[in-house]
Amino acid sequence: MANKIGIFFGSDTGNTRRVAKSIAKKLGDAADAPVDVKKASPDDLLKYDALILGTPTLGEGELPGLSAGCSDASWEEFLPKLKGKDLSGKTVALFGLGDQEAYGHEFVDALILLYNFVVEAGAKVVGFWPTDGYSFEKSNSIVDDKFVGLVIDQENQSDETEERIDAWLAEVKPALLG
Ligand SMILES: Cc1cc2nc3c(=O)[nH]c(=O)nc-3n(C[C@H](O)[C@H](O)[C@H](O)COP(=O)(O)O)c2cc1C
Repeated sequence: MANKIGIFFGSDTGNTRRVAKSIAKKLGDAADAPVDVKKASPDDLLKYDALILGTPTLGEGELPGLSAGCSDASWEEFLPKLKGKDLSGKTVALFGLGDQEAYGHEFVDALILLYNFVVEAGAKVVGFWPTDGYSFEKSNSIVDDKFVGLVIDQENQSDETEERIDAWLAEVKPALLG
């Protein structure tokens, strides 16, 4: 697919879906409509060379899916289907939703699970994000002092969401479009 960006997300209560939609709207013609991974096949994702993948953290620092208590399948069920596929040559940007007040001891921990998966499959990840402006005890999703993707907290900092998306997209859009 000629350089369009594919956006895939998992979501339990809709926050991640809404952020994915906002990202798509801001990207305009550069991106296709966001797809919930519960409805996606690996081939749907593999046709893109540039990807934005989003996830909330649920359960005990887990990806969304049945074992995290979601009513539907999600990333937890989708990633095993993608396992063994080659993502080399693909550029991936990640975003994660979490709640730094209620879950400050495992803030956005699921983001690192997506990161490790795509890196192991050979993808290049862009769009690391500073930890400044968030208040939390611990997060597994930090590499080289930065979050491995954009972090959004709709519970405590929803007023910052659009600005954060804009700043992040200014960096990742050129990197994704090559
Ligand atoms: C049962 C449950 C467990 C959660 N666990 C975490 C967690 O471990 N770390 C975190 O940062 N946020 C956690 N959250 C907060 C969610 O990530 C946050 O509410 C997010 O916006 C939900 O996104 P969604 O509406 O797309 O499902 C949890 C929320 C719920 C309901």
